[in-house]
Amino acid sequence: MIDLKGKSIVSIDDLSTEELVQLIDTSLRLKDELYVGESHEVLHGKTLGMIFEKPSLRTRVAFETAMTQLGGHAIYLGPNDIKLGKRETTEDIAKVLSSMVNVIMARVFAHKTVEDLAKYSKVPVINALSDFEHPTQIIGDMLTIKEKFGGFKGLKLAFIGDGNNVAHSLMLAGAKLGIHVVIASPKGYEPSTKVVERCHEISKATSATIELVNDPEAAASEADVVYTDVWASMGQESEAEERKRIFASYQVNSNLMSLAKPTAIFLHCLPAHYGDEVTEEVGHGPQSAIFQEAENRLHSIKAMLVHTAK
Ligand code: CP
Ligand code: NVA
Repeated sequence: MIDLKGKSIVSIDDLSTEELVQLIDTSLRLKDELYVGESHEVLHGKTLGMIFEKPSLRTRVAFETAMTQLGGHAIYLGPNDIKLGKRETTEDIAKVLSSMVNVIMARVFAHKTVEDLAKYSKVPVINALSDFEHPTQIIGDMLTIKEKFGGFKGLKLAFIGDGNNVAHSLMLAGAKLGIHVVIASPKGYEPSTKVVERCHEISKATSATIELVNDPEAAASEADVVYTDVWASMGQESEAEERKRIFASYQVNSNLMSLAKPTAIFLHCLPAHYGDEVTEEVGHGPQSAIFQEAENRLHSIKAMLVHTAK
């Protein structure tokens, strides 16, 4: 068993392939146990501190429910509670909070904020979404892919849209697990070069391939998984109208899905803007696994807490 006790997960790249596989396996076990009503209160008496600079449905409910089911407790600290960086410095918040709780999760605007929390915290810090990565989402997504396909090697995953936080974590996990990841974005909206280069480096050992294209049809062609996300992420609201025009031809609709394999699944981290990045026909259609994917946030986050909490 791999030991992640006390380890922060700020990026997917904080995890080795083995650690990632272990988290997915633990998620599966915890899901099975929950389904048969077997209790797993292994975090009895432990507390999770939850810092939110942005809204959330899935991530907040998954972390909070996870702590309840693990026999522990979670404290929600919203934007108006601690006023991170305004009322108090990130460093002081990390030092104070980590002197009381056993694990911290943070949803922040700037990636550096969650890096700083991890740097100054005595307990593990889990990135619950930053402007650069969304690791907890992608571990749950890999659980969904494993449930649907039994494994990862050789699968083609097409991400259609903005080269954003979700795309970055997806690329890194794909590289670690041997997936052929193709990102189709408009010019100027490609994922970060730093992440692309790191993925190429990782792929040497895993036989993954990471490809960037501008053509959504080329990406979707013969794909096993078609994935999309909103065109304007939280914090980019002022660009929403402009992005709607730029991304118009990047919609995942039934025409695009028809290019993927007949066995392909559709994933979306949610929340979705139906009629923009995905049609309702696809989002709620027979190939869609978005609600299984959303539920899997609970099981995978539980696994992350079980392995990391001090
Ligand atoms: N996918 C996701 O992170 O959803 P929330 O923003 O609702 O947490
Ligand atoms: N890219 C989106 C993901 C939401 C879960 C955002 O950052 O808003």
